[in-house]
Amino acid sequence: MISKSNTSERSLESCVTANPEETRAWGLKLARRLQAGDCLLLIGELGAGKTTLVQGIASGFGVPPEKIRSPTFVLIREYDGQIPIYHVDAYRLRSAEELLDVGFEDYLASGRGLVIVEWGEVVRPLCPPDSWEVRLEILDEHRRRLTSFLGAHRRRKRHRDGD
Ligand SMILES: Nc1ncnc2c1ncn2[C@@H]1O[C@H](COP(=O)(O)OP(=O)(O)O)[C@@H](O)[C@H]1O
Ligand SMILES: [Mg+2]
Repeated sequence: MISKSNTSERSLESCVTANPEETRAWGLKLARRLQAGDCLLLIGELGAGKTTLVQGIASGFGVPPEKIRSPTFVLIREYDGQIPIYHVDAYRLRSAEELLDVGFEDYLASGRGLVIVEWGEVVRPLCPPDSWEVRLEILDEHRRRLTSFLGAHRRRKRHRDGD
């Protein structure tokens, strides 16, 4: 179950997918709301579908899904889409600081591309407060619940803008 203990967070959308294709399709829909400069944290255990979701998101920017693999050994992979996509896997990180050594903050600060982080909870301290978040839960062998959250800072901004 999704914890609602933090009342300041608001889930935007939630759905249950029945297979990887549906997870990719949900990612493709999400991609329409993402742009260069955004940071998206993916939270979910091994096999939850984080990499599958990245395939869907990346296809929204013209990157073929077969190009997307977990960057477990290189920390960051870069895909050339309509905007650059920086795909991070924090699974093997011993500390968030290790990412600083490979220029993570520069990727974020440049605003040139979309940053997507698997095991995003590990690097949340380094990420902007308006980062997006998607939580993926394994319900059974094939069903996954996906829930998107919008960072607090961006919500306030949207509110001000009357959005
Ligand atoms: N509804 C679903 N959505 C995503 N993946 C699913 C789903 N049902 C089964 N799977 C399987 O679960 C695994 C997800 O793997 P992956 O995307 O690499 O997860 P993660 O990156 O979170 O470790 C794949 O083997 C995929 O075929
Ligand atoms: Mg993965």
